[in-house]
Amino acid sequence: MDFFEAANKRRSVRAFRPEAVPEEMLVRILEALNLAPSAGNLQSYEVYLVRDAERKAALVTAARGQEFLLQAPVVLVFCADARRAEERYSMRGTDLYAVQDASIACTFAMLAVTALGLASTWVGSFSEAQVAHLLGLPEDQRPVALLPIGYAAETPAGHPLGDLIHEVS
Ligand SMILES: Cc1cc2nc3c(=O)[nH]c(=O)nc-3n(C[C@H](O)[C@H](O)[C@H](O)COP(=O)(O)O)c2cc1C
Repeated sequence: MDFFEAANKRRSVRAFRPEAVPEEMLVRILEALNLAPSAGNLQSYEVYLVRDAERKAALVTAARGQEFLLQAPVVLVFCADARRAEERYSMRGTDLYAVQDASIACTFAMLAVTALGLASTWVGSFSEAQVAHLLGLPEDQRPVALLPIGYAAETPAGHPLGDLIHEVS
């Protein structure tokens, strides 16, 4: 699948089949996210892999009852690492670049997921404090996105395209 096909096929899927994500696919997803660009090539983010049911159930609670997090065999948690970005970029690093780095990595992962015939949804609505607590995150890591991954059990429709591009002349 080329880039345009993957971008076109990607949809937010909120129902997953129970089959496991094959390990070799997971490795390819993790390799893909590692290829994402980052400010100063510092990769100011960390990714946590959650597979056990108890922790996934705690993620559901932290994410205000989004049950599909429990259905997905794997949930990746993308965290901005403020400390790494701060060393070179001060506040712009902590407040912006670290969050952007984590977000771009999550986007790479999402597109890799689609290219492999799997599905995901970016979940941003959650209590940061609860997620940080259940993962035991160090203080300078901020959870930015949860990415449940699995085989789709639904086929959502595409969303209408927005008119977002403005030519400046
Ligand atoms: C920053 C961000 C936060 C999001 N948070 C959630 C969320 O908490 N729960 C959810 O079901 N979808 C969430 N989404 C998915 C969007 O609802 C979805 O991308 C949008 O409706 C467009 O649909 P599509 O992804 O199928 O194209 C989020 C997406 C982004 C980019």
